[in-house]
Amino acid sequence: MHKNTKEMTELILKAKEKAIKETSHEPEPEFTKPISWPITCTVGPGLEGAIACETKIGYVNGAKGWLIYRGYNIFDLCAYSTFEEVAFLLLHGELPTLSQLNVFKKKLVQYGHIPLTKRRLMSFPVERMNAMAALRLGTTFMRQEFTDVESQEYINDTVKIISADEDSIPMETKPMGEKHAIYEFDEKKLLEMKIRDNLQHATGIESCHHLVAGVSSLVAAIARIKVGRLPIEPHPDLSFASNFIYMMTGKVPSPIEERIMDISLILHADHGMNASTFASMVVASTLSDIYLSVGAGIAALQGPLHGGANEAVIAMLKEIGSVENTKTWFEKACAKKQKIMGFGHRVYKAYDPRARVLAPLAKYMSRKNDEGKKLFKIAEQLEKEVLRTLGKEKKIFPNVDFYSGIVYTCLGIDSEFFTPIFAASRVSGWTARVQEYLLNNRIFRPRAMYLGQFDKGYISVKNR
Ligand SMILES: CC(C)(COP(=O)(O)OP(=O)(O)OC[C@H]1O[C@@H](n2cnc3c(N)ncnc32)[C@H](O)[C@@H]1OP(=O)(O)O)[C@@H](O)C(=O)NCCC(=O)NCCS
Repeated sequence: MHKNTKEMTELILKAKEKAIKETSHEPEPEFTKPISWPITCTVGPGLEGAIACETKIGYVNGAKGWLIYRGYNIFDLCAYSTFEEVAFLLLHGELPTLSQLNVFKKKLVQYGHIPLTKRRLMSFPVERMNAMAALRLGTTFMRQEFTDVESQEYINDTVKIISADEDSIPMETKPMGEKHAIYEFDEKKLLEMKIRDNLQHATGIESCHHLVAGVSSLVAAIARIKVGRLPIEPHPDLSFASNFIYMMTGKVPSPIEERIMDISLILHADHGMNASTFASMVVASTLSDIYLSVGAGIAALQGPLHGGANEAVIAMLKEIGSVENTKTWFEKACAKKQKIMGFGHRVYKAYDPRARVLAPLAKYMSRKNDEGKKLFKIAEQLEKEVLRTLGKEKKIFPNVDFYSGIVYTCLGIDSEFFTPIFAASRVSGWTARVQEYLLNNRIFRPRAMYLGQFDKGYISVKNR
C-alpha cells in the first residue's frame, strides 16, 4: 500500500473501533442459523422480513450496523484489501492466493476490452441517454457478443471481426505512456487476449468475470461518449480502481485517488438481498442468462430509493446551498414529510458501516477541493439535524449514499455517474449471488392478496 494512503487506512480503522464500541452490545438478529424449508416468518409490505433463500456470500446486521462479505468485516476489507480481491472473494468464496490474484487481475483487464460492445453502443445517441439506461443497453450488447460466438460463422473468425472493427469507430488508447492519445483498434492485442476462447456460454463463472470487468469499462466509455470523447481501453499495468478512473478521465489517478475509488468499490460490492440483487436473482431464477440478470440489477439500481440516491444527495446539498440554511431547509422538508436523501434503510437501524467509512474519507478528500468542502460542511450539518430528530425518533441514520457523492465530486466525477459507479462495483455481488442461487434454483414466485371484485358480468363494448 502506498505511504500516502496510510492516513486513509487509519481513518477506516478508527471508524471500525467506533462501530464496535457503539454497537457490539446489540443482540444478534435471528438471520444466521440454518433453516429447514418451508419456514414461517413475518412479512411486511415490500417483502420486509421475508427470507427468500440461504447464502454464504454476505450478511447485513442491521441492529449492530455490521456488514460481512464471506466472513470478513467490511472495515478490514476497506483497510487492507482491494476491489480485485473482494470481487474474487465474493465470486469464489475465499480470498485469492497471490497467483490466483495475478491471473484474476490480468483477466479483468482483458475482459474490460470490449470494443465490439462499445462500437455497438456508439451507434446509439448515448449523449442524450440516461447513463444507467445506456449501461443496461451496453450489457445487452455484451451478451450479444456471445450470440455471435454461438454462431459457427463467428467462432473461428476472430480476424474477420477485427477487420470489421477497423473499418468502424476507433478506440482512444494511451497504452504505453505515449504523450497523446492514439486512435486505434489494436489487432494484435485483441488476438493475444483470446477472450472468446473462455466465453463460450452466457452463463458460468467466466461470464461473471466478463461482466465485472465489462461494466466498469462500459461506465467509463459512456462517461466519455457523453462529453464527446472516444472510449479508452483498460491499461494492462493499472489496478481495477486506477483503470476505472483512467478510462473515465484519460488521466492515471494519484495513489490517493486510486485508493479512495478502491475503497468505494469495496464498500458497494454486495449488500444482502437489496432490490437490485433481488431483481437480478428473480430474472436468473427463470434460467434467463447472467447478462440479462445483470441488466435487471442495473434497472433496479437506477431508482432514487436505491442506487440513484447518491446523485439525489448532491442535488439536495446544492439546493440547501449553505450551512446556515441547513436547519431551515430540514425543518421545511420534515413539515412536508419529504424523505431526506441518503438517510434511512430497510435493514440498518444503526449507523450504516459504509457511511462510517465514507464520512471521514469524504472529509479527508474534500480538504483540498472547494466544491467538495462546501458540500461536506452542509452534509455534516444536515447529519446533525437528522440524528437529533429522526435518528432518535425513528432510528434513521446516514446510509452509503450520503457521503459517496462527495467523494466522487472530489474526484471530479459528474454526479450522473455516481450510480453507474455503484453498478460497476455491485455487479460483483449480483453475479456472485446469482451463481450461488442457481446451484439450488427455484423460480421466484410470490403471491399477491387479491382485493378486487368477483362475479362481474361481461358487458359488450357498445353497452359500456
Ligand atoms: C431506504 C428507504 C427506501 C427504506 O425504505 P423503507 O424500509 O420502506 O422505510 P420507510 O420508507 O417505510 O420508512 C420508515 C419510516 O421512516 C421514515 N423515513 C425513512 N427514510 C427516511 C428519510 N430518508 N427521510 C425521512 N424519513 C424517513 C419514513 O417516513 C417512515 O416514517 P413513518 O413510519 O412515520 O411513516 C428509505 O429510508 C428512503 O427512502 N431513504 C431515502 C433514499 C435513500 O437514501 N436510499 C438509499 C438507500 S441505501
